[in-house]
Amino acid sequence: MKIGIGADHNGYELKETLKKFIEESTDHEVVDFGAHSGDAVDYPGVSFNVAEAISEKKIERGVLICGTGLGVAIAANKYPGIRAATAHDTYSAERAQLSNNAQIIALGAQVIGPESAKKVVEAYLNVAWSGGSQRKVDQITDRESQFLDQNFKDAAKSSC
Ligand code: RB5
Repeated sequence: MKIGIGADHNGYELKETLKKFIEESTDHEVVDFGAHSGDAVDYPGVSFNVAEAISEKKIERGVLICGTGLGVAIAANKYPGIRAATAHDTYSAERAQLSNNAQIIALGAQVIGPESAKKVVEAYLNVAWSGGSQRKVDQITDRESQFLDQNFKDAAKSSC
């Protein structure tokens, strides 16, 4: 798979560690969406770029890192069709894919150490969605589509 990886300044060092780990211990290709240094960068833009690449099928999965793993996930989840899950344990990481078909896993560099983070990412990448909870994931997608349709209709009405 092609894995997009992205971080803000708080996640920069862990991103570098996880990128190397994925490249050296798996067959996956890593696409780096920055940050490319520890200089301050706002996390939403990084999340949006990874989410967009998934939407456009340029990459299949994403790993996002900030201080807590929360902001990057919240931002990515604003992107239609994107399911990003914060996970700091291997069971949640597996379930993010198996139960939720989450295309993105998010981690907090201020929450988890590098060795545990490697295990979490490994657990996430080692499993694949098999459609077991499709009905529930569809309910989320359907609700999102309803909001998008309504917004589109409202915008069209107000521009008339
Ligand atoms: C810094 O912007 C900090 O808020 C960020 O790294 C992250 O923890 C947000 O959720």
